[in-house]
Amino acid sequence: RIAYVNGRYLPHRDASVHVEDRGYQFADGVYEVCEVLGGRLVDERRHLDRLDRSLHELFIAAPMSRAALSAVLREVVRRNHVRNGMVYLQVSRGVARRDHAFPAPDTAPSIVVTARRTDREAQEALARKGVAVITVPENRWPRVDIKSVSLLPNVLAKQLAKEAGAREAWFVDADGYVTEGASTNAWIVTAGRTIVTRPADSGILRGITRTVAFEVAADLGYTVEERPFTVAEAHAADEAFISAATTVIMPVVMIDGTPVGSGVPGPVAKALRLKFHDFSE
Ligand code: PDD
Repeated sequence: RIAYVNGRYLPHRDASVHVEDRGYQFADGVYEVCEVLGGRLVDERRHLDRLDRSLHELFIAAPMSRAALSAVLREVVRRNHVRNGMVYLQVSRGVARRDHAFPAPDTAPSIVVTARRTDREAQEALARKGVAVITVPENRWPRVDIKSVSLLPNVLAKQLAKEAGAREAWFVDADGYVTEGASTNAWIVTAGRTIVTRPADSGILRGITRTVAFEVAADLGYTVEERPFTVAEAHAADEAFISAATTVIMPVVMIDGTPVGSGVPGPVAKALRLKFHDFSE
């Protein structure tokens, strides 16, 4: 395997960043995960738009032009012979002597790009079964709209999920509303054809998969309600599912040990998953 690190393509096992990298010391950086399908990056433009936004919100300079970055992404995919898989891209504020405040303005941001294959058959098998989620109290900072690598609450929540035999943890805010998963957006289906997901103006990352899913839902004739939903509503829902570049649309069949609907993947989640790549770019 090959990784791209600050201008060089290196064997994955030797690829590393400096001990004084601010990504390492302060989690002072941002990232993107993009699906690779048939050797192509799915929704690359949207992912790079969101990367620009994350960088802008944190006052981190773009590490290179959009065209150059796009070329690096494609080259990493090519060098790793990835047809179906994932690209990971991380930009940090760079390397400087440890000091919380920003380093000198001429400090170059660090950039790392890796790619790996995924087992599509295993993913499909999982989607046929559906996954379990648990709920945990929301304890993240309010700027979760930024795709930052500061993911400690997400890491702890995901570990709790894993220990409970679940795939995802849904954060629940102080008012009892689900925000999103540790690495996915959260959705429920009510009244058979109405899809409910939290608005992206507070408490969640504006998922690319979420945006595309709106288009798929419209095409399939579903009603989409962008509003917060409670855990109780999710328990009473016909269906639930999660969305992310890593899992696309994944049916949720259990929440905190209670089956959702009939306890098997529902028709809406299945249809969205099936049609998703007809609408992604
Ligand atoms: N996670 N919410 C959170 C907190 C996420 O970390 C992610 C993505 C999403 C979904 O966004 P998108 O549809 O653009 O992938 C929502 C990535 C995949 C990860 O951390 O692995």
